[in-house]
Amino acid sequence: MAGSIPLIIEKYEPRDKGNLIQILQDVQRTEGYIPREAVEKISSHLWISKSEVFGVASFYSQFKFNPPGRHSIKICLGTACHVQGGDFLLNALKSVIDISPNETTEDGRFDLDRVACLGCCALAPVVMIDETIYSNMSVIKLKETLNQYE
Ligand code: FES
Repeated sequence: MAGSIPLIIEKYEPRDKGNLIQILQDVQRTEGYIPREAVEKISSHLWISKSEVFGVASFYSQFKFNPPGRHSIKICLGTACHVQGGDFLLNALKSVIDISPNETTEDGRFDLDRVACLGCCALAPVVMIDETIYSNMSVIKLKETLNQYE
């Protein structure tokens, strides 16, 4: 996969930093994240610093810097979920599977993102794993639920 990064980048005009977002989107789509190698190659292709590439990519939540896990956890920290204990769930994830937002567990089992609202506030607090929404989540229920995913 990583061998495709130069091919993606070279499709774009060198030194035209107006292409930065498009290149990042292409890399994200192909690799599933933005590897460090891609940041270096984009930087030299567009003649901008690595910190500028990283800064722009960090600004947009669509770009990830870690390879995706086998399962994706989205924890809702919107107002309703926050009030109902979303932060406790986030802390539980840290202690149970040692993961923080925008990270992937070392065994590649889970990646984690926080989201502002999953659109079902009446069911707060809500956690989404892959395509499944888990409602009225508690720390105990979350631990049990994680055990269902390999
Ligand atoms: S705030 Fe969590 S679903 Fe809306």
